Amino acid sequence: MIKIIDLKKGYPSPKGEIIVLDGVNLSIKKGKSVVIMGSSGSGKTTLLNLIAGLDLPDSGKIFFKETDIFSLSGKKRAELRNRKVGMIFQFFNLLKEFTAVENVAIPLIISGMNKKEALKKGEHLLKNFGLGNRMEHRPYELSGGEQQRVAIARAIVRNPEILLLDEPTGNLDWKSANETIGFIKEKISELNITSVLVTHSYELAKNFGEIFTLKHGKLEKNISG
Ligand SMILES: Nc1ncnc2c1ncn2[C@@H]1O[C@H](COP(=O)(O)OP(=O)(O)O)[C@@H](O)[C@H]1O
Ligand SMILES: [Mg+2]
Repeated sequence: MIKIIDLKKGYPSPKGEIIVLDGVNLSIKKGKSVVIMGSSGSGKTTLLNLIAGLDLPDSGKIFFKETDIFSLSGKKRAELRNRKVGMIFQFFNLLKEFTAVENVAIPLIISGMNKKEALKKGEHLLKNFGLGNRMEHRPYELSGGEQQRVAIARAIVRNPEILLLDEPTGNLDWKSANETIGFIKEKISELNITSVLVTHSYELAKNFGEIFTLKHGKLEKNISG
């Protein structure tokens, strides 16, 4: 489903170029989950942004099935991302002025669905996510774990094939983090979504998928913890 080939990316700095990714290779089969660990600044977010097609590498390729995503125009790449990729972040990034159900419905409305139908779909998903009695709550009226569940619902409402999760539990206590990861795992298995999870926690990573560590710009497969 996803194939990353010899991906390289650096950023210019006053002291010369900082090489962040120095030849990353990774293949993920449809419906499989991969975890990426690594210290702060090791390039995890840089890698996820490239997989999402939000940024361009210096060299190397990423394929979604047969599509070489960096060979597409920016517009086509954005379309592909909107259709196929869901993203979840540490800080939930919900829209504060909108209710839970509106937050979930917004991607559908943007994609052209009429508002009533979009809200109905959002309600259905939130009920399925155990948030049936939180539909009209605004983000500040929800716990961190609940906010993240709304963000997960928003990320999958358009049926993405790929889910990218950048430290989704970094802002949650251990219990909520563990529940949230269990919940995500359950949903992606049900929906056969291919996923990449970035986390600092080996305890969370070990039940999620195949674990790699990003170090000195390369991915190493974890043999143990
Ligand atoms: N837009 C940018 N411009 C310059 N340097 C950047 C930029 N984005 C990230 N970096 C640098 O690249 C390195 C990797 O960053 P990042 O991918 O965010 O790491 P991680 O997510 O693993 O903490 C860091 O040293 C960071 O300072
Ligand atoms: Mg990061």
